[in-house]
Amino acid sequence: MAYETLLVETRGNVGLITLNRPQALNALNSTVLKELKLAYAAFHADDAIGAIVLTGSERAFAAGADIKEMQPLDFAEVYKSDFISGWDEIAKARKPIIAAVSGFALGGGCELAMLCDFIIASETAKFGQPEITLGVIPGIGGSQRLTRAVGKAKAMDLILTGRMMDAAEAERAGLVSRVVAPERLLDEAMEAATKIASLSRPSVLMAKEAVSRAFETTLEEGLRFERRLFQSLFATEDQKEGMAAFIEKRKPAFKNR
Ligand code: HXC
Repeated sequence: MAYETLLVETRGNVGLITLNRPQALNALNSTVLKELKLAYAAFHADDAIGAIVLTGSERAFAAGADIKEMQPLDFAEVYKSDFISGWDEIAKARKPIIAAVSGFALGGGCELAMLCDFIIASETAKFGQPEITLGVIPGIGGSQRLTRAVGKAKAMDLILTGRMMDAAEAERAGLVSRVVAPERLLDEAMEAATKIASLSRPSVLMAKEAVSRAFETTLEEGLRFERRLFQSLFATEDQKEGMAAFIEKRKPAFKNR
């Protein structure tokens, strides 16, 4: 399928989505959201795909929601259309998604990166929630996900002042999992995604579910949830195979069942 705002390709068992609106620094308009949902759905429906990488250009992962599209809207339109809720669907995606971020990840762009399971950043990456400078606030989860990722002090600092933080600060704060040289960014993300895609699918999906649950529930409930998932994996053939392969000093041949 041909997309207007994305480049979508398959590399081995990994789905690669590249935001492609260079004239607007990959600003997220309604077409981007519609197409991202379609691209994600296609990768989810494809059994061969075990993980997804989402990236942008060297200059910008995404410079935010499209300000030109939002500027004329009024409250009734924004409220009735439930303008932002479509992004939740992306947060609920089941297969792991890695954000490979170079350049600007601002506003909705930072929020989109945080909807992914983890962020690998280029040394050039700049993260921020500048909505306050436009007379609004984050709307795709920035005030919640950034606070959980970096804590109240830094989230308040970024969201109240609208300043940007560079990749080194983002890594120290725990927003990104790794920082790499710009020319290594896509390879690093693809290697991580390829590794994930080579592992047993049920355990990968459950690991993602378990970590994601840590953001939503109490420690006691989360531990109970993790234990049930752990126990249930003993019903899979891949658990027998993975452990047998270790004992027999060979590579496992997972069947994703
Ligand atoms: C629409 C955008 C845009 C955006 C950049 N562009 N960001 N268009 N929406 N979010 C466009 C510019 O208008 C310009 O188009 C072109 O991209 C290049 O941008 P420049 O500003 O000329 O580049 P530069 O001087 O390098 O500055 C880069 C920048 C700046 C610092 C990233 O563009 C910027 O501050 N952008 C806005 C960042 C922002 O406020 N994001 C939050 C949006 S609100 P032309 O046609 O003039 O060449 C948001 C809310 C989310 O995200 C929640 C609700 C859905």
